[in-house]
Amino acid sequence: MIKVAITGASGRMGSKIIKAILEQEDMDIVAAIEAPNTPFVGEDAGEVIGAGTMGVEITPATELNTVLEKTKPDILVDFTIANAAVETIKTSADCGVNLVVGTTGFSDAQLSLINKVIEENNVKAVIAPNMAVGVNVFFKILKDLAPILEDYNIEIIEAHHRHKQDAPSGTAVKAYEIMAMELGRENCGVYGREGQVGARTHDEIGMHAVRGGDIVGDHTVLFAGDGERLEIIHRANSRQAFVNGVIKAIRYIPTAPSGKISDMGDVLGLK
Ligand SMILES: NC(=O)c1ccc[n+]([C@@H]2O[C@H](COP(=O)([O-])OP(=O)(O)OC[C@H]3O[C@@H](n4cnc5c(N)ncnc54)[C@H](O)[C@@H]3O)[C@@H](O)[C@H]2O)c1
Repeated sequence: MIKVAITGASGRMGSKIIKAILEQEDMDIVAAIEAPNTPFVGEDAGEVIGAGTMGVEITPATELNTVLEKTKPDILVDFTIANAAVETIKTSADCGVNLVVGTTGFSDAQLSLINKVIEENNVKAVIAPNMAVGVNVFFKILKDLAPILEDYNIEIIEAHHRHKQDAPSGTAVKAYEIMAMELGRENCGVYGREGQVGARTHDEIGMHAVRGGDIVGDHTVLFAGDGERLEIIHRANSRQAFVNGVIKAIRYIPTAPSGKISDMGDVLGLK
């Protein structure tokens, strides 16, 4: 049985991940953690997410260390917010707990700190800004296409629901990084355009974030040339796409390399 702890237990993603884990025969939720200021602390996690009583109380993040020591999970799954996730990752890695992290919006400094604690504590980790299988195939297509279409202008357009905290999305940033690396370009991201910005340079990759309603997550990469354009589009219809990827990432952890961050390309064998 794979023992799983989850932070952000009552969140949009966390609640769905708990429900999915409850349906797996080889997985068990041993701890459900939330921000200390949420009204659900102390309540049964299953009752909070509408899955019936599951016998696991929602613990405040201030007691993360204690709950991990007590319940000894194999893996902690984090879908929260970048600043909170960094602290959670440090504590979990310190306790020798492996990680599956879907939280987005980490700064470069936070990412290098995360790398450091995972390496120092020799734990296993899957960290990916988008766990959907289709999106990771989309990343692979972009990697292959960018060098073929190097003369084309590249623009990334993403759209998400009105509650999303970070912009551009972690998925858009990853798409940018993949293509910039393939094309040997550095710092070529141009975020939105306003005013007298002048003509577009060939090397820039435009990034545009749309926010509204309940859009789960759309990503378009536009390759615009003279007389034609090619668009590669991924649309998430429901969060279930991400949840399915999380379940695959949890199952991958036992075979993952220690002390190193794996991504969904590793999980799905796309490399
Ligand atoms: N990787 C992916 O596939 C993927 C998919 C969807 C969302 N996301 C990312 O996951 C994150 C969460 O998204 P969401 O839509 O579920 O957000 P949400 O706001 O619905 O849920 C986040 C939850 O985290 C809780 N939280 C905050 N601080 C905490 C702490 N210190 N300890 C424990 N819980 C804490 C909040 O109370 C909230 O319930 C975001 O960064 C989002 O961009 C990633």
